Amino acid sequence: MVKGPDVLNCPDSPELRVAIEAARIGSEIVLHYFHLGAEIRSKPGEQTYNLVSDADIQSEKAIAAFIRSQFATHAILGEEEQVADTRAEHLWIVDPLDGTNNFAHRIPHFAVSVAYYHCGEPQVGVVFNPVREDWYWARRGYGAYHNGRRMQVSPATRLSESMIGVGFYYDRGAMMQATLNAIHDFFKCEIHGIRRFGTAALDLCHVADGLYGAYFEYQLAPWDFAAGQLIVREAGGCVSDGRGQELPLTKSSLLASNGTLHSAAQEIVKRHHLD
Ligand code: IPD
Ligand code: CA
Ligand code: CA
Repeated sequence: MVKGPDVLNCPDSPELRVAIEAARIGSEIVLHYFHLGAEIRSKPGEQTYNLVSDADIQSEKAIAAFIRSQFATHAILGEEEQVADTRAEHLWIVDPLDGTNNFAHRIPHFAVSVAYYHCGEPQVGVVFNPVREDWYWARRGYGAYHNGRRMQVSPATRLSESMIGVGFYYDRGAMMQATLNAIHDFFKCEIHGIRRFGTAALDLCHVADGLYGAYFEYQLAPWDFAAGQLIVREAGGCVSDGRGQELPLTKSSLLASNGTLHSAAQEIVKRHHLD
């Protein structure tokens, strides 16, 4: 039985409690399939390496049912089935299994991500890695936490002191090449290294927790970053699109950093940004 995190540091919030319970419910399903060995298939109409499994589908169904049982009128946007207008006053954004490719190859690094937005502004973000039992959560104005410990972004002031995280969207054409070119330019700045762990929601938590100085990806969907962007901001970091503009709630490039490194990282990410 997966247990929820210690949220004693945070004043009670019904949405935070529901987000945590939703992530817990989804994670139990994901873990069950992970240990059982879920059947993996390609997403209909997508590239053969864009994978999905019953873990993704059943986790999202259970999370959505739970949120609806608590907030019947709220909108829910999910990667697999839940459709919603992102302008809804009360909006939940769910990635029922972030890191499906890792999951499919039995790499124990994946997460469930649940966020609550009010009038387009993130209020609560929860990301849970059920294998490591790592809870990351933030509530707007109350900080960001990792298993009960308050998180703070990296104090690095130069790229040459930093580890950089990266992700590749499913595009294997120009976008992949742009990512490789940007990686090349980061290396020229004598960074300590590049990591591609394969779970965007956790990559953002790694920025919040000071592991990465910055993280970028040329395309992500709202469910990949909805929770993580609040977690980064509440840990003192900065999140924008790859050109430094405000991150929209649509598919977008993304750059997250400790804030101090943002303009240096943005210069590189922007240089290779596709139109
Ligand atoms: C993917 C992961 C991956 C990122 C991809 C995402 P999924 O999400 O977050 O790290 O590089 O862009 O699409 O498909 O596993 O939910
Ligand atoms: Ca995802
Ligand atoms: Ca997913």
